[in-house]
Amino acid sequence: MLETIKSLMDENLPLVSNLANAAAVLNSIKNINWCGFYLFDGKNELYLGPFQGEPACTRIPLSRGVCGKAARERKTVIVDNVLTFEGHIACSSLSRSEIVVPILKDGALVAVIDVDSPEFSRFSESDKTLLEGVAEILSPLF
Ligand code: SME
Repeated sequence: MLETIKSLMDENLPLVSNLANAAAVLNSIKNINWCGFYLFDGKNELYLGPFQGEPACTRIPLSRGVCGKAARERKTVIVDNVLTFEGHIACSSLSRSEIVVPILKDGALVAVIDVDSPEFSRFSESDKTLLEGVAEILSPLF
């Protein structure tokens, strides 16, 4: 997957085009119901970027949700059961577990990658490693 994303990314394209193709590739991850990006507005909110799946919430304050937590802490967050995660924002009633990986540029938050699964405890350390690799490839494009 990392090689596929690398080969598709083009620094001469607008960011939205690169993220749209990256979201399409992320969608090949098995047993997920949503994958995509939330971009940091530079203040206190994330807003919806390119994704694959059902329509989703368009704005997430940094104080809320799994995405907000990963963005605030600038660290990957894995939630095995979103039903018991306080502050989880349910965009899809199908979601049971979730992973959110921050994308940092020169140490500053620029976006997060969000992947949801209909299966409890779907995401492991290997998914974390993979998605952090994706974040590294995408960072220079911001
Ligand atoms: N569940 C996320 C919100 C985004 S959707 O999953 C697409 C959260 O709690 O931050």
